[in-house]
Amino acid sequence: MKDDLPKAYRGLETLKVKHVHHWTDKTFSFTCARPASFRFRSGEFAMIGLPNGDKALLRAYSIASPNWAEELEFYSIKVAEGPLTSRLQHLKAGDEILIRPKPVGTLVHDALLPGKRLIMFSTGTGIAPFASVMRDPETYEKFDEVILTQTCREVKELDYGKSLMAGIEADELLKEVVGEKLRFISTTTREESAQMGRMTDWLNDGRFEAATGMALNPETDRVMICGSMEMLADHKAKCEAAGMVEGSNSEPGQFVIEKAFVD
Ligand code: A2P
Repeated sequence: MKDDLPKAYRGLETLKVKHVHHWTDKTFSFTCARPASFRFRSGEFAMIGLPNGDKALLRAYSIASPNWAEELEFYSIKVAEGPLTSRLQHLKAGDEILIRPKPVGTLVHDALLPGKRLIMFSTGTGIAPFASVMRDPETYEKFDEVILTQTCREVKELDYGKSLMAGIEADELLKEVVGEKLRFISTTTREESAQMGRMTDWLNDGRFEAATGMALNPETDRVMICGSMEMLADHKAKCEAAGMVEGSNSEPGQFVIEKAFVD
């Protein structure tokens, strides 16, 4: 942005919105043109937002597109009284948003030790960083098996994840890279569906083992977790009980966590 703007806007870039899709009355996704210079690792988040007088109103958003994509994609909840999402949900193609082009985050390959199975546990919009990781060919170079789980209250909230799977199926190149390695386990907790229950319950009562062929194993499994604070705490406890150690960018480990940001 130009130097005559308020100081708080310096270092921010403007992105043009290309496409907006409303999935439910609580969630939507949108894509933006990606500046050629904007680099990120799949799974990272960036501060994005809108102008707000003298200050930019910015929040952390996981980048849902993989790092090879031409567009940047974001998946967001809509909160009627949320300072940013109450405005962001009215975005239309052609509008502009602001971004601080310094993505960071721990849900990245660099923060995990080598392993055989990558398991990504998410609830709600916590699926966003995994939408990126699951479409990154590096994921399939590093792991023999990739399992994505998403738990939502209602069936309709699972549509975004299902469309990601359909998108991979429809992309000849990506489909070949992914092969048979990727599994998507989606469950609901407050509406009847084919698969129900929290993944923490599935881990407790053997349903996770039955569905994937193996209980959490610190030797072979690497885990990424994204959801609410309570969900992170419960899943972290499951990983630690299985003998896993939390990783970071500077010290890779067996599992990593990140809050699903906007609420
Ligand atoms: P539940 O309906 O049993 O609370 P929320 O909208 O509250 O973030 O929840 C999104 C989904 O995540 C819901 O299906 C919810 O299940 C589930 N969930 C909430 N808290 C946890 C937790 N601590 N561990 C696992 N899943 C959770």
